[in-house]
Amino acid sequence: MTGRLDGKVAVITGSTSGIGAATAQRFHEEGAKVVISGRNRGKGAELAAALGANAAFRAADVVKEEDVANLIAFAIDRFGRLDVLFNNAGDSTAGRAIEDIDTAAFHYDMNLLVGGVLFGMKHAMPHMRRQKSGSIINNASIAGHRHGYGPHVYNAAKAAVAHLTRSVALEVAEHNVRVNAISPGLIVTPIFLNAEQRSPANVDRGLTALATQFARSQALPTTGMPVDIANAALYLASDESRFVTAHDLVVDGGMIAGRTMAEQHAWWARMNETFAAT
Ligand SMILES: NC(=O)c1ccc[n+]([C@@H]2O[C@H](COP(=O)([O-])OP(=O)(O)OC[C@H]3O[C@@H](n4cnc5c(N)ncnc54)[C@H](O)[C@@H]3O)[C@@H](O)[C@H]2O)c1
Repeated sequence: MTGRLDGKVAVITGSTSGIGAATAQRFHEEGAKVVISGRNRGKGAELAAALGANAAFRAADVVKEEDVANLIAFAIDRFGRLDVLFNNAGDSTAGRAIEDIDTAAFHYDMNLLVGGVLFGMKHAMPHMRRQKSGSIINNASIAGHRHGYGPHVYNAAKAAVAHLTRSVALEVAEHNVRVNAISPGLIVTPIFLNAEQRSPANVDRGLTALATQFARSQALPTTGMPVDIANAALYLASDESRFVTAHDLVVDGGMIAGRTMAEQHAWWARMNETFAAT
């Protein structure tokens, strides 16, 4: 099926890399006009040029509310409306013991991971309310569901994103604006690699190593790739999900559902050894 986003205009934050870049491409393939956004002007302009006339780049640092407001205004100005906003920009945070958390870093991380999402919703909403339609998608994480998949501040911020999503969804539902989250599992992207400090070849080698490791990390013996999240975002962006709001769509190959059968068997084997020894 093609043309699932025909006639729609989408803004994607943090779309010069990883999940955001894959989503920009996927949305464009399905007929959307796409505004790519991020801090890397060179990369953003290159990606938009590769997609052609139905794509544009606008630089925005999502910790700055003014940048986010200008990004939304740019999309309306360039393409005349706003149907989809994917609040995707994010970064990993330092993994520290609670007594070692740096206060300035904490404020920055919350401003990026929660503030960026909040600013996006705040500035998109007047347009979507007026249009009486719109789909907002916020990128959360399995780290917001279960402990053990990220550092303290990241975990808390992603849980906040999912809850903020539900809270806002119930405010704006009467205007036919839908607000959902996606909680990805392990997805092969530069977020794990401190990419700015590596050469492109080194980033590529790192991504290959991640792909091998991630294939063995969840119930499905499959590596989570950016396009897996892009396809979930596509569903939430399209009218196929018109009756779906306040939802947090976990896309993780079964990672947080519980123990796999192999893990259960290993546990029972240890139990049986214990019984046999008594
Ligand atoms: N990769 C995973 O396994 C995974 C899992 C769960 C959630 N996520 C979430 O997915 C989202 C995308 O991450 P990714 O994995 O594609 O990583 P990525 O590093 O490839 O992409 C993140 C993008 O956000 C941008 N960004 C960071 N700070 C920004 C700021 N202040 N303003 C604007 N842009 C900024 C980066 O430059 C980059 O383009 C993040 O919110 C991340 O927390 C990723």
